[in-house]
Amino acid sequence: MRILLCGGTGYIGCHAYLVLAARGHEVTIADNFSNSSPQVLHRLETLTESSVNFHRVDMRDRLALAKLFSTRRFDAVVHFAALKAVGESCERPLDYFDNNISGTINLLQAMREAEVRNLVFSSSATVYGDPERLPIREDARLQVTNPYGRTKLVMEELIGDVCRADPAFRSANLRYFNPVGAHESGMVGEDPGGIPNNLMPYICQVAVGLRDKLSVFGGDWPTVDGTGVRDYIHVMDLARAHADALDYLAREDRNLTVNLGTGKGVSVLELVRGFEKASGRNIPYEIVDRRNGDVAEVYADPSLAQRLLGWRAEFDVDAMCRDAWRWQSLNPQGYASLFSTESDRALATA
Ligand SMILES: NC(=O)c1ccc[n+]([C@@H]2O[C@H](COP(=O)([O-])OP(=O)(O)OC[C@H]3O[C@@H](n4cnc5c(N)ncnc54)[C@H](O)[C@@H]3O)[C@@H](O)[C@H]2O)c1
Repeated sequence: MRILLCGGTGYIGCHAYLVLAARGHEVTIADNFSNSSPQVLHRLETLTESSVNFHRVDMRDRLALAKLFSTRRFDAVVHFAALKAVGESCERPLDYFDNNISGTINLLQAMREAEVRNLVFSSSATVYGDPERLPIREDARLQVTNPYGRTKLVMEELIGDVCRADPAFRSANLRYFNPVGAHESGMVGEDPGGIPNNLMPYICQVAVGLRDKLSVFGGDWPTVDGTGVRDYIHVMDLARAHADALDYLAREDRNLTVNLGTGKGVSVLELVRGFEKASGRNIPYEIVDRRNGDVAEVYADPSLAQRLLGWRAEFDVDAMCRDAWRWQSLNPQGYASLFSTESDRALATA
């Protein structure tokens, strides 16, 4: 298939690129580098030993999107392009609505004009809010607790309306739980700008000495050890699910909404201990107050993805920690410092 990855230089997108390229698909990336580095393109070229077809496009730019769709006939689109920081979304909700929702409307319009009718969408477990029942099934009540979550829910609904209006349009909503880890090469991984919002990159930065200690938000949750429990999933397992979802859309000709998690809850302290074991480093931490809007436990029932896609997570917490540590120890400053080159700067300003 000829596949367009919107937001494909981001954390999950670049791992999906590797899986899709390995399966023989012809993959194009579009991104505006608002939360990624041009370095990713060089890394992908090194890993795949072939050039990457890349277009610098902002999803909010309708003309640029139309031009992109005129460059080649795509069979399917995977839509990763979104802003994703919960805290930032509370401070700048309009930016999130504009980037995520307007960007998605533009993409759907460009797809309609180009008659591209297969879409895989990066949704999130955030659409379940504070779950009533665990593990969470796809038919659980949907509710959101912040503007970022609202954009994901609205995007799912917009895509659902497009499917209803055009019976030939096919979509797969993939509700990710907590992606962590990195490609086994250690050449691509999660590189958050500024202070990490997620636990694993924070632990990684403590491990390499970029941060003094980890703040653990709440030690009195009703969980195994008082710290919050989440469903961490290796990013390569997640990446593989995108290829499986694209196959499903082509094979079954039906829409799909599935959870992507391991089904296993892991506490903050369990993850810290797993990381200490993988890295041999001590991770100092301090228990601080709970954060507003946090919940005690979130983990998936991933059985629908197994039944429909034949997909299940294969990597355990040890593998997640091992690969996260390999990425961070090989790239202590992420993509930024060591490898920045003139060609990166040229790409970034092109
Ligand atoms: N990482 C997570 O914990 C997580 C969990 C659930 C869902 N998701 C969703 O998965 C998707 C990918 O997440 P990620 O972790 O790879 O994030 P990321 O920020 O690393 O990747 C997103 C990419 O989209 C690009 N982008 C953003 N807005 C754009 C725009 N207007 N035009 C063009 N490109 C744009 C960014 O530059 C970045 O490269 C997002 O939609 C996110 O909401 C992520």
